[in-house]
This record gives sequence, structure tokens and C-alpha cells, in this order.
Amino acid sequence: MNLSTEEFEEQYERQASPPGRRTFLIVLSLVLGAFCSAIVGLPIVGSLIGPRLLGAPKDVWRPVGKTGAFKVGETVEVVYINPDPLSWAGVTDKTGAWLRRDDATHFTAFSLNCQHLGCPVRWEAGAELFMCPCHGGIYYADGTVAAGPPPRALQRYPTRVRDGQVEIHTSPIPLPGFE
Ligand code: FES
Repeated sequence: MNLSTEEFEEQYERQASPPGRRTFLIVLSLVLGAFCSAIVGLPIVGSLIGPRLLGAPKDVWRPVGKTGAFKVGETVEVVYINPDPLSWAGVTDKTGAWLRRDDATHFTAFSLNCQHLGCPVRWEAGAELFMCPCHGGIYYADGTVAAGPPPRALQRYPTRVRDGQVEIHTSPIPLPGFE
């Protein structure tokens, strides 16, 4: 019996890989793919929406240093424990802010995160600007937008002085679109 090329290939494929085996391999690939995606994706999604679902702690003030450690007019990066630390978080428990001493008793704190897509901004003392390295976002010293794609000013955190310590009123990382 002579078979056309298409018939021959069809018959060959049927013999080489019976439908039951093919279906099993397809289902196995899908299950393994979904399993791997869940392992990689769940911690990321959980860290983003967890604080919103579980309710972030309210009124968390964090000390960031003695008042004497800051010079009037200077803007420096400060590090503190984030408002919703997790026991397994390790160094990721820490977060930061830009802190400026306005005068003897007043401080202004800005979020590190750009209001475009959340990249960390850096303070350029010479230019007196906050610069975002990701897409060229630029903010004036007061946090308002000077140029680039950021849709709004840098978020500010309330500050206070207690017993000679500067404290920042913390909140979850202000990711754009999650406010
Ligand atoms: Fe800052 Fe895009 S994340 S400009």
C-alpha cells in the first residue's frame, strides 16, 4: 500500500506518540509550569498586597537618629525598620527616607520611591534636586515634580522630635497605583 507523505507522517506521529501519552505530557507541562509560576510569583504578590489585605499597622513612629546628628539645611538618607516587619524578612525589614533639617526643631522627610514606577530617587546636593535614574524623573528640593514622567510630588512622611530623637511616621511603601 502506497501512502502519501502526509498520511505517512500522520501514521508515524500516531505510532511515535500515542494520544494518551501526548495528553499526559501536555497536562504535566501545564501543571509544572503553573507550580513554578506560583513559587516565584506568590511571595512577590504577597509582599505587595499583603499589607493592604492584612491592614498595615497604624501610628508607627520610627526613630532615625539624634537631632544633633543632622545639620540645618542638609538632606540625608536615613534608615529605619519598616512599619510591617516580618519575622523572616532579615535585612529587608529595613527601609529608608530622605530627611532634611529645616531649622532647630523642624524636619521634612521624603519617600525614597519615585512616584512614576517606584524606583529609588537620590538627592543631588549640588543641584538641589531629587533625581530618578530609571526614566529621568526629576523633583525639586520641596519634592514637587521638575521634569520627566512622575505624575505627582514625592510623598512626604510626618516627622516629630521626642526626647532628642527625630522620628518618622512610617507607612507602607507608597507604590504608584496602590494608594
Ligand atoms: Fe522614576 Fe520612572 S520610576 S521616572
